[in-house]
Amino acid sequence: MEKSSGLRVILFPLPIQGCINPMIQLAKILHSRGFSITVIHTHFNAPKASSHPLFTFLEIPDGLSETEKRTDDKTFLFTLLNQRCEAPFRDFLAKLLVSSDSETQRISCLIHDSGWTFTPSVTKGLKLPRLVLSTYTVSFFLNHFSLPKLRREVSQDSEQDDLVQEFPPLREKDLVRLLKEKREYLEPYLNMMLEATKSSSGIIFMSCEELNQDSLRKAREDFKVPIYAIEPSFSNFPASSSSLFTQDETCIPWLDKQEDKSVIYVSFGSLATMTGPELIEIACGLRNSGQPFLLVVRVGSVKGTEWIEAIPEELMAKVNEKGKIVKWAPQQEVLKHRAVGGFLTHNGWNSVVESVCEGVPMICLPFIWDQFLNARLVSGVWRVGLHLEHRIESNEIESSIRSLFYGDEGDAIRERMRLLKEKVGRSVKENGSAYRSLESLIDRIRSFGF
Ligand code: UDX
Repeated sequence: MEKSSGLRVILFPLPIQGCINPMIQLAKILHSRGFSITVIHTHFNAPKASSHPLFTFLEIPDGLSETEKRTDDKTFLFTLLNQRCEAPFRDFLAKLLVSSDSETQRISCLIHDSGWTFTPSVTKGLKLPRLVLSTYTVSFFLNHFSLPKLRREVSQDSEQDDLVQEFPPLREKDLVRLLKEKREYLEPYLNMMLEATKSSSGIIFMSCEELNQDSLRKAREDFKVPIYAIEPSFSNFPASSSSLFTQDETCIPWLDKQEDKSVIYVSFGSLATMTGPELIEIACGLRNSGQPFLLVVRVGSVKGTEWIEAIPEELMAKVNEKGKIVKWAPQQEVLKHRAVGGFLTHNGWNSVVESVCEGVPMICLPFIWDQFLNARLVSGVWRVGLHLEHRIESNEIESSIRSLFYGDEGDAIRERMRLLKEKVGRSVKENGSAYRSLESLIDRIRSFGF
């Protein structure tokens, strides 16, 4: 922990788990380097202030109704949040700037999630430097601004395996799924995000040269602002303390009883939803694979039910022989555990990076949005996982687990994952790419304050 720099950084995460975790991890890094931290957050999905006593938390009203909070259309949700949070955010920030004592502590800059699009109009008036944090992989962030155009061009029922030329390594069939629900709000929202990013003082990515070199080069050309690719610096600062859900700690003693690299861990993140029959297919596939498994089923993630009522009693008895089902797991601890040998995942970017950092090979089952692209990177580019090709069927799940744990392909995947883990691990060592990027980010934030 470095001594205080006399500078305060204001952080503004988007209120979903996959965006709160990296922002709080960044806060921990900056705090360890001498910065004071203020997190401005919405009432909706507010992070637990008590878990971070060294940071200041300020809640702004968001005006969301219970129905609006539950919408499946995240672009609509984020559009509403941007409309309703602008005025309160402006007021809070202006008051903070006035009350910060310029002799003893200056506010250096604002770092906000790329999903907050109103911020340029606020910080420009206040003359406050502004950095954008993208929680997406670099290639998704770069190319997703062309999604409205691609929607007009691609046949809406394509099941083609062809690459989308403007959006590699995405396939046409992925694109169709990705665009399924998103309609009128998408284009204006993305246009505002693009403008807010281009006019920022820099972009922070949770990635590194070793994972996204070509896309990072292109991002530097396209955005013409400094780019900081600092992941996996975050891996030293676990995300568990920023969990919005209660973690079931019994996972760890259960894993302690399993053999090395025998367990398949299954989790689909904080947003994905499935149907009851899909949950049954997954439970059957896991059970039939013969491997011990730890399955996370988030409360409310199975449509029309509270939790796992869709699983019939008879199947549940079989599931309990080798499996454990929990509502939320301490994921990073689980992936670190010696007993875990594979991860059946939705491929949220945090989960992908956490899996690579722990060297756990994946089975890819993306559900929404950027997850489709992340899954192609994992299975087709880095080749450290198998892809279920969107088939939520028990026999497909069973055979992919068997291939991963016992087949020749599984051996090759494990070896590539071992090498990728080493390569990415080196990037945070002194003079590694993520290490250098983090140092230049910290220098930049310091320079803003003077
Ligand atoms: C989604 C997107 O898919 C992601 O790419 C985007 O950047 C943010 O929104 P999400 O569904 O939350 O993300 O998945 P992911 O990005 O993987 O983040 C989930 C986080 O929750 C991870 O840090 C993971 O460790 C944590 N988690 C998940 C738990 O701690 N316990 C669990 O049981 C499941």
